[in-house]
Amino acid sequence: MGDQVKLNAGGAEYDYPVLKGSVGPDVIDIRKLYGQTGMFTFDPGFTSTASCESALTYIDGDEGVLLHRGYPIGQLAENSSFMEVSYLLLNGELPSKDELEKFQLTISRHTMLHEQLATFYRGFRRDAHPMAIMCGVVGALSAFYHDSTDISDPEHRKISSHRLIAKMPTIAAMAFKYAVGQPFIYPDNKLSYTGNFLRMTFGVPAEEYEVIPAVEKAMDRIFILHADHEQNASTSTVRLAGSSGANPFACIAAGIACLWGPAHGGANEAALNMLKEIGTPDKIPHYIERAKDKNDPFRLMGFGHRVYKNYDPRATVMQKTVREVFEAMKVTDPLFETALRLEEIALSDPYFVEKKLFPNVDFYSGIILSAIGFPTTMFTVLFALARTVGWVAQWNEMISDPGQKIGRPRQLYTGPTHRDYLPLEQR
Ligand code: SDX
Repeated sequence: MGDQVKLNAGGAEYDYPVLKGSVGPDVIDIRKLYGQTGMFTFDPGFTSTASCESALTYIDGDEGVLLHRGYPIGQLAENSSFMEVSYLLLNGELPSKDELEKFQLTISRHTMLHEQLATFYRGFRRDAHPMAIMCGVVGALSAFYHDSTDISDPEHRKISSHRLIAKMPTIAAMAFKYAVGQPFIYPDNKLSYTGNFLRMTFGVPAEEYEVIPAVEKAMDRIFILHADHEQNASTSTVRLAGSSGANPFACIAAGIACLWGPAHGGANEAALNMLKEIGTPDKIPHYIERAKDKNDPFRLMGFGHRVYKNYDPRATVMQKTVREVFEAMKVTDPLFETALRLEEIALSDPYFVEKKLFPNVDFYSGIILSAIGFPTTMFTVLFALARTVGWVAQWNEMISDPGQKIGRPRQLYTGPTHRDYLPLEQR
């Protein structure tokens, strides 16, 4: 008999098994709790709730550790590529040279969009937020790819997974082109996954586009840093949507919608806008005080995390990448100095120290993306582009789980109890 915990409820005693993972906190299996006690657990925000079993990504928030299939994010960011990390997340092991080449070729063969979708873009206003376009276009993919939406068919799941990973760069680049009024650029499969994206975004038909290797490497590393992150809000959204049997394109569109929120993936756009509002380092103390003021809704965007109560390991890599991109692009940005100073001041302030608020993945990413040439409205689009492989891998893991059931949480009801309808003349 494994470990158990006892619960005294309603004068009776119940035993619940403790399940152990390969690393991380044990979990109490309460699947029989309601049937035995007639009670629910209560955990809004799921701060103490494991929603599923997963073998993809592990985070130790206190130690600032992030592993993808066991490999530390720092090593992957330094030595791997986004395509290789995508293969790792989808298949569980790092690919051989042949496996990687075959995977990259497969992905490259799905980079084009159905031509009719270009017409779909033309229905949006030119000033539409690119995330609104992403939600619409990705959801619309299920209107075009009926041949890969039977989720019970592993081959369909594989093809739709590859289609989503391959088409996100094309869809994202087209959203940018549509906003700036330039023609869409078709994929060029001679380029790498990330080089292809940069050319589709910044290239124009009027001249050759040269991918800058240092920028391509930095962009690819940024994609690696955003690939997957356990059961965050948008991944949980994708899993919940997928649990009803919805097709993968609709599930990923739901994930994009959730990611858009400023408390989640929208924080990179909000963090750079915050740095622009702060402007120069002398204004930082005023904003630190605002962030600490309970009556002020202002928060330091790019700071804090539900899981990391230590430095977000992705922020460490991101800060290093800022310097590399500045050197490659021969640019600088005074906001980087403001960001470094803001971090320094915040991390020496008792409020942030006590609440364990450190910079997260979104704090520095905007500075890099801005230096590469992306407008702030594209920042969360890039997060969604990279996170698609994580969403797809998590969706596949869920759908392939024979014990998978539709997600259907319960509630603590605090509304009116039974009362009879009153006709209008009696009210
Ligand atoms: C991402 O889940 C993931 O893994 C997400 C992500 C991923 O890869 O998928 O890592 C990506 O979403 C990163 C987070 C990006 N969001 C931001 O940078 C927005 C700013 N951060 C906060 O909104 C907040 O820190 C959250 C939403 C990220 C986490 O919120 P929690 O865990 O619900 O914590 P909380 O809101 O309860 O805050 C705890 C305390 C509160 O004070 P008290 O009520 O206890 O007095 O810390 C304070 C908060 O007021 N606090 C902040 C703060 N974040 C939390 N105070 C000032 N500035 C902040 N940024």
